[in-house]
Amino acid sequence: MANATDTAFRRIVTECSHPHAVYTEFVSVAGLCSPGAPRLMVDLEFADCERPVIAQFFGSVPEQFRRCAELAAGLGFDGVDINMGCPDRAVLRQKAGAALIRDPDLALEIIDAARAGAGGLPVSVKTRIGHASDSVEEWIGRLLAARPAAIAIHARTVKERSEVPAHWDAVRRACELARGTGVPIAGNGDARSLEHGRALAARAGADGVMIGRGVFGNPWLFSAAGKPAGLEAALETMLAHAVLYDLLFAGRKNFVDLRRHFKAYVGGFAGAKRLRMELMETRSVADVERIVGPVIGAASARRARDRAHGLSRQRGHQHPTRPIRPPPPLRNAPVPSRGTPAPAP
Ligand SMILES: Cc1cc2nc3c(=O)[nH]c(=O)nc-3n(C[C@H](O)[C@H](O)[C@H](O)COP(=O)(O)O)c2cc1C
Repeated sequence: MANATDTAFRRIVTECSHPHAVYTEFVSVAGLCSPGAPRLMVDLEFADCERPVIAQFFGSVPEQFRRCAELAAGLGFDGVDINMGCPDRAVLRQKAGAALIRDPDLALEIIDAARAGAGGLPVSVKTRIGHASDSVEEWIGRLLAARPAAIAIHARTVKERSEVPAHWDAVRRACELARGTGVPIAGNGDARSLEHGRALAARAGADGVMIGRGVFGNPWLFSAAGKPAGLEAALETMLAHAVLYDLLFAGRKNFVDLRRHFKAYVGGFAGAKRLRMELMETRSVADVERIVGPVIGAASARRARDRAHGLSRQRGHQHPTRPIRPPPPLRNAPVPSRGTPAPAP
């Protein structure tokens, strides 16, 4: 998820409870094929401990997808995913993300192009159930004909953004369509826990469940317990997350983006309102340590720092140990837009 599931958070998640697969934030193929590419490469950093890790791209130009799939394969990703679900206006304006639901011919061309570049890596699609209305039969039917490696379906239309409960019944209809094609379907939308997600997927006949917002503040979501042992455990991990973010991204990403996570880490605990308000003002790791240190104690704070340092040294593709080089710019490539999706692609 954009500005949230970077390699720092994915390392924390995979340390606490390993999901079957993780995705990068979506990255613009137009941006990666432009002179502005170097500043986007941070979003393609990952560590081996996250595997399997899938690079997600958005865009509308098949040749750019081919080049970026080639880049992902070269970097050692385990798969390439094409975002056909983001409803953000800046993304739709580029005819990318969910705009592809309205242009299935181009969508299929993009899948083919990504496959051509991916050198045998699986190429999957993340999408929605339709644009203005539920058009599962028509849209998912078209996608299935292209035989992507998998389709993850956010069970809302583009128009609905995230403002209504997810329509899992539409996922069930998509699964019926997919039967016999060999294309696995993952349902997505509103799963609050692994158990809840499994129940939703089972009822829909889906092969899997994708969980987005449920993981904010709860990197234990994929463990047997499914939640932190208590407030102190949550705060220790939150501090480890902040230290790791700083170690990996200082000067390259905005520390303030972490506040979304901070709010979620303490969100589930009664009586933590003041703590939450204080965390909303933080601008640095030192700020977080000052607030959290007295609550968790010196030993726990030391453990948090040790965990972060250990995770920062994981092998993988990251600056500056193995700087990753973008493809050479395409002439006349559109200017990149990170198109932060709000509220949810
Ligand atoms: C802040 C934020 C950023 C997101 N960024 C992405 C993204 O980059 N790629 C993507 O496929 N979906 C993205 N999503 C959508 C989620 O993956 C998911 O489809 C949606 O939140 C519904 O699932 P959930 O109820 O499990 O969160 C984002 C959602 C949020 C809230």
